Amino acid sequence: MIKIAPSILASDFSHAGETVKALEACGADLVHCDVMDGNFVPPITFGAQMVRDIRPKTSLPLDCHLMVLHPETHIEDFAKAGADVITVHAEVCDLVRLFRQIEGYGVKKSAVVNPETDVEKLFPAAETADMLLLMSVHPGWGGQKFIPETLKKIEKLRNRCEKIGRSDLDIEVDGGITEENVKDVIAAGANVIVAGSAVFRSADMAQAIARLRG
Ligand code: DX5
Ligand code: ZN
Repeated sequence: MIKIAPSILASDFSHAGETVKALEACGADLVHCDVMDGNFVPPITFGAQMVRDIRPKTSLPLDCHLMVLHPETHIEDFAKAGADVITVHAEVCDLVRLFRQIEGYGVKKSAVVNPETDVEKLFPAAETADMLLLMSVHPGWGGQKFIPETLKKIEKLRNRCEKIGRSDLDIEVDGGITEENVKDVIAAGANVIVAGSAVFRSADMAQAIARLRG
């Protein structure tokens, strides 16, 4: 099943509550929350407070992508704020340890690699993860161009999942996804599509979400 996860990074933070309500009404499946700390990536976006504030405004799962240098020091805050999925970067933590920590709060666990990181770094996590994410742009900014080499990484990860009996595993892809390239992303084996610009820069969000579903 294809799920669409619009990233609120591309939205106006001054009405975040209205935004998540609108996303739900427009058929989104998850709300993708891009958390940036100014260290792992240069920009700073928002933290657990935002998650706590939007939590009561929607019943959609909140998919928290932590682009932070020390994710282990923030898991508790995001879990208590109401995150449904927490994604941590394999570049900055021990995934086994972090997954245990996330699981301890009853939150779904996910891991991600940057474009320049080998997809094999996610293989050990595939056994226990609820989702795995591949960055298809360099993290830090919305509105970048999709890196085509990601398609091979998606295929490799999907094959690996099938080989270990995890064909149920959600594979999410994040960055530069448009109505044009989404078909290739899905054909390669991804089923969770993050989209910032493609949703929030469109005149009709419901239509944009429907088209991204392929
Ligand atoms: C980049 C973020 C992405 C990004 C997606 O650091 O993780 O979620 O906002 O935005 P678009 O779809 O505009 O590339
Ligand atoms: Zn993201």
